Amino acid sequence: MERVRIFDTTLRDGEQAPGFSLRPSEKIQLAHQLDALGVDVIEAGFPIASAAEAEAVRQIATEVRRPIIACLARCHPADLEKAAWAIEPAAQGRIHTFIATSDLHLQAKLRITREQCIESAIDAVRFARRHTFDVQFSAEDATRSEIDFLCRVVEAVIKAGATTINLPDTVGYSTPDESLEFFRQVRSRVPNSDKVVFSTHCHDDLGFGVANSVAAVLGGARQVECTVNGIGERAGNAALEEIVMAFRTRPDRLPFTTNIVTQQLYPSSEMLAKLTGQGVQVNKAIVGRNAFAHEAGIHQDGVLKDRRTYEIMSAADVGAPWNPLQLGKHSGRHAVQKRCAALGFDFEGDELVRVYRALMAIADDRKTIEDADIIAVVKSMRHEKAAATEPVEAFEGAATAVGAMHESGYGHGV
Ligand code: KIV
Ligand code: ZN
Repeated sequence: MERVRIFDTTLRDGEQAPGFSLRPSEKIQLAHQLDALGVDVIEAGFPIASAAEAEAVRQIATEVRRPIIACLARCHPADLEKAAWAIEPAAQGRIHTFIATSDLHLQAKLRITREQCIESAIDAVRFARRHTFDVQFSAEDATRSEIDFLCRVVEAVIKAGATTINLPDTVGYSTPDESLEFFRQVRSRVPNSDKVVFSTHCHDDLGFGVANSVAAVLGGARQVECTVNGIGERAGNAALEEIVMAFRTRPDRLPFTTNIVTQQLYPSSEMLAKLTGQGVQVNKAIVGRNAFAHEAGIHQDGVLKDRRTYEIMSAADVGAPWNPLQLGKHSGRHAVQKRCAALGFDFEGDELVRVYRALMAIADDRKTIEDADIIAVVKSMRHEKAAATEPVEAFEGAATAVGAMHESGYGHGV
């Protein structure tokens, strides 16, 4: 098993996506959580972006001592100076400098020649090396760059002193087979490629972010750049939690380990969602509300007998709540009985069948059944039964009772 380093860019690439910006105090809080999560590198920000951003990176470098603290800089002296200042207090600081290498970016965006690109890259790496031993170089839009030129750039920056080489799929254009082959090729063609760590950084425009990252590792990358909840530019970056759990769940095909404390995955996801105000898609792998929830009767029956029938990971392993008894119109009697028992109701005779039918009638009308619905149904049934033997005032009935509870706002589960 080989170890893959986790380079978390939630506070840089993640935070730069629309709607995800964080206050400096929030970035610092998240940086401490990323430390608890066990990431190897925290990319804390892009110091040239603003004075507050530079201060936040410097504060993280001061307070968060275990992981490497990295920050981003274009191949410009002003960016590099600011980056060097921001990581100066770090126990281990990294300057991450980048320039685009695809002809499209060189011509349309930067308006420079290939030779000017190489020159800037070499100068930036040399400049960064004067401030820190740990220098990462990224060839932006690497996967759409002409491979001979890309290899020339990579060779030159290794010679200039870069210690990590990142080959980003900046616009999420690659496919998994291509990603594997791409890393194999660059590593085999560039002299001294064994002296540096190759890194993958995939965006999710075609939904391949995680698959491309994993494929890059199979092609020789030993650092993966990713974000909590997969947040990031446009469709986002590769999701940290998915990559980590892929390695952990499929060591037979993916013989790689990480230093991530997986029980901190869900708490990290929750904290990020709370601080950004951006909820997680309910069916998101690993950290979505439904990732370990079951409503269908066949599935509930299966997981109640043996969790592994419908789960390949356990909720406890990622620090998430386990909810096999989500009740709705697809649920079966086994789950209803278990949930009722948890609420303190044991049934006799045909009581379970009658409660089940009443709950399914409610579920036909609504999306989920809450504990309040169950309590109302069981109590009203028992009350009706008592009324049939003792003459008491007519009870309003289950539906009325449930309706009243819902009108009063009780039992909506929000
Ligand atoms: O997507 C990208 O190319 C980047 C680089 C700056 C690393 O975020
Ligand atoms: Zn990116």
